[in-house]
Amino acid sequence: MRIEASAPSNIALIKYMGKGVSGSNLPANVSMSYTLENMRTFVTIESGTEDTWLPLEGYAPLSLSDAGRKKFLDHFSRLKARWSITGQYTVRSANNFPSDCGLASSASSFAALTLATWQLAVKTGAADEDTENAESLSRLSRLGSGSSCRSFFSPWSMWRGEGAQDLSLTLKLDHAVIIIEKTKKEVSSTEAHRRIESSLLYAGRSERATTRMEELLSALRQNHWESAYELCWNEFIDMHALFETSRPAFGYMGAATWDVLTKLRADWTALGDGPLITLDAGPNIHLLYRPEQRELAERQLTGLNVIKSWK
Ligand code: PMV
Repeated sequence: MRIEASAPSNIALIKYMGKGVSGSNLPANVSMSYTLENMRTFVTIESGTEDTWLPLEGYAPLSLSDAGRKKFLDHFSRLKARWSITGQYTVRSANNFPSDCGLASSASSFAALTLATWQLAVKTGAADEDTENAESLSRLSRLGSGSSCRSFFSPWSMWRGEGAQDLSLTLKLDHAVIIIEKTKKEVSSTEAHRRIESSLLYAGRSERATTRMEELLSALRQNHWESAYELCWNEFIDMHALFETSRPAFGYMGAATWDVLTKLRADWTALGDGPLITLDAGPNIHLLYRPEQRELAERQLTGLNVIKSWK
């Protein structure tokens, strides 16, 4: 028996940053993301002699650190226990995007692992097909990696509390990421979640995220694209300001990131149009364009190191 599943990554426009209670990935604030359908993790599960992880052949080469492998297999054990799955398995995974490009793959990896293990539970008769749905799977996936819980809904997802849900918003966008730096982060997102609580700016963060999310949703629903851009800009600056004012402070935005951001903002000022712009806990710049902005996108991205998720 061979199980195969895949799940997409997602990019948050309202950021999950800070955990309410440590240990269970419960978020301190609401978040909202766009699902990156073309950036996926693929997982296979086959019977084996012990629970192990191996890279899945046929995709971009993937290597996991010992800690990364443990986190992945711990989630697999958690799910096996939840559905009373017996036996030992070889779990293979790979991404269809390069793993050294500075893009976080934990969202797609953990969502794909949750889906694959769920299929294993159904196929082996350990669970009934109708006992879980996207929302309950999202809650389970959250236990492995917080941001993965948003990858169960498309094109837009909203996460509050224990799991994510679909947002009734059909707008489809083109995603690109400008790779400024590929090196591993000095402060992991796990550490960032913890450290930002020491910032004096942390007070009121949850309220700001809620207000901004409501405003962003309404801007997107009413096609107020420029307001949506401003809200997304404010939001990533808010998160990076938390990083820069933590004690001890840390940061991901260097001169190269600012250089590109400044140019993109100048274009917005000159044209009154442009992409939605956001940064994760890293230096790379994520852009979301409306499909009819293709020409502008091609012009803005020429000469930059970019991964585009459109053809
Ligand atoms: O899922 P984690 O613990 O790697 O947290 C990711 C947090 C951000 O990517 C910085 C923001 C988000 O909402 O995805």
